[in-house]
Amino acid sequence: MAKIQAHRISVIAGDGIGPEVIREGLKVLNKVSKKLKRPLEFEHLEVGAARWLRTKETLTEKEMETIIASDAVYLGAVGDPKVPPGILERDVLLKIRFELDLYINLRPCVLLEGAFTPLKNKGSSDINFIVVRENSESVYTGLGGVFKRGTPDEVAIQEDINTRKGVDRILDYAFEVCEARKNKNQITMVDKANVLTHAHGLWRRAFEEMGKSYPRIKRNATYVDAAAMDFVRRPEMFDVVVTNNIFGDILTDLGAIISGGLGLAASANINDLPSPDLPKKGQVCRGLFEPIHGSAPDIAGRNLANPIAAIMAAKMMLDHLSETEAASAIDKAVRKTVAGGKIFKKDSPDLAVSTHEAGDQVCSYL
Ligand code: NAD
Ligand code: IPM
Ligand code: MN
Repeated sequence: MAKIQAHRISVIAGDGIGPEVIREGLKVLNKVSKKLKRPLEFEHLEVGAARWLRTKETLTEKEMETIIASDAVYLGAVGDPKVPPGILERDVLLKIRFELDLYINLRPCVLLEGAFTPLKNKGSSDINFIVVRENSESVYTGLGGVFKRGTPDEVAIQEDINTRKGVDRILDYAFEVCEARKNKNQITMVDKANVLTHAHGLWRRAFEEMGKSYPRIKRNATYVDAAAMDFVRRPEMFDVVVTNNIFGDILTDLGAIISGGLGLAASANINDLPSPDLPKKGQVCRGLFEPIHGSAPDIAGRNLANPIAAIMAAKMMLDHLSETEAASAIDKAVRKTVAGGKIFKKDSPDLAVSTHEAGDQVCSYL
């Protein structure tokens, strides 16, 4: 009998708490392996601060080839106080997002039963939305430069890129997500069209035009400053939020803290491009899955990090690989763990148990 082909997963545990939370994610993946249609095969890539300090390498060409040929990437976090800001973030994480054109960043903001929200009088029925973040443009492309560096006349320019193609494709995906959710059938676009009249004028026009193809979905466009307030004041108004790269980054840390903390918030970086449009020769990979948090140097190495965000990122990865049974088993086990009320300190997003024990609890429900 022919051997069943495995899902090939490139693993970048990375820096700080990255390896601590990925270890728990892998433990959980191993535990659900019996429910998988195809086995998982992991390729561990030694990417991160330690190697950069030794060799000044970030992501090698060979590692990029491994990633391109794999079915998905599972990443903890990169970034370290010993490395100048941006080196690892840009040359590892952003490089993978951009080179594979993973233009969709899905960031659910869901308050699970038993998780702590600092919002008074808000519960699980109030905080249940998803942010669809544009992941390939905005100020993230790195276009720009510095002139007369280090002089009193220094000029620094960081361009904000918004293309009609880029805006249309993320809006279209967000409308589709909204239809598929069958929740409030409501989409909120977050922008700053009152100031960024060129760039976000484009977003507004594209949103109106795209909306005509989705007559069942209510549209609302709002400014980012007001949206930040409404994440706190009335999160129940959100169902699907669509926004640009930088606003999506900032708003989802806020979205995380109202839904139980950064230690619970997972994300999927994906694309749904037709095969001929994939940017890399031989590209198989269409997804990078990671917690939205970073390497948390302030708690790294102390077994304090909450691994649930990394575990839920693994769940999103299995959904992407059409391993729905195993994904749903993880989802249920996480919900039971959080609802059990034993892993958190009272009225806090902080763990009351160690990183290992939190992972063990999830495994115990699988
Ligand atoms: P951070 O997300 O690492 O930490 C912010 C705060 O949240 C810290 O107080 C931290 O202790 C806490 N926190 C984060 N994850 C947690 C978890 N799982 N459990 C409990 N508490 C948790 O953000 P930062 O401090 O701004 O960034 C640190 C480094 O990580 C920087 O180098 C940054 O560039 C990088 N970063 C990387 C990624 C990534 O690789 N995906 C994402 C964000 C930040
Ligand atoms: C995130 C992170 C990254 C981003 C950084 C590390 C480049 O903050 O995934 O939220 O800004 O996208
Ligand atoms: Mn972020």
